[in-house]
Amino acid sequence: MADRTSGTAVCPGSYDPVTLGHIDIITRTAVVFDKVVVGVVDQPVRKQKTLFTAEQRVAFIEGELEGLDNVTVKSFHNLLVEFARENGARTIVKGLRAISDFEYEFEMNQLNRKMAPDIESTYLMAAPQYSFLSSSGVKELAMFGGDLTGLVPPQVASRLKEALER
Ligand code: PNS
Repeated sequence: MADRTSGTAVCPGSYDPVTLGHIDIITRTAVVFDKVVVGVVDQPVRKQKTLFTAEQRVAFIEGELEGLDNVTVKSFHNLLVEFARENGARTIVKGLRAISDFEYEFEMNQLNRKMAPDIESTYLMAAPQYSFLSSSGVKELAMFGGDLTGLVPPQVASRLKEALER
């Protein structure tokens, strides 16, 4: 039988850019697990080129982790389950928003499970105020000059404005 420890969890994502919904999931994961590794994907997934580089996306998250001394942030470009193994994590934690996330996450879950049955994926329900918040929605708002208060950290809001105005 495998060891039973809360141990290390990986919180993976594109985080392009990180939103307050992501920060909420990372913070809640850090309460439950001894150690959290936030994995920032350094590869275009779902055929999407990112607005920010992996280094920028990592830095945005690191800037919001004050007081969370059991969380580290790293980029990765291999399979998520391999990244989890490299970091000694047996659990992947993701946030689930409205029903639309379910189908994609269900598919990823089955693929990851097939490759690595020893790594479990778990899901935290998004807090109600973040249930409809997404990085792509935020980028669209930013492009048209929408107010990003309460959606992304202030430093991310100004970097988004700069990047999309260019
Ligand atoms: O929703 P996101 O942020 O685009 O999700 C990214 C990620 C890596 C969490 C998702 O694509 C996933 O769960 N992928 C599993 C398959 C895999 O390992 N892909 C390679 C990523 S480098």
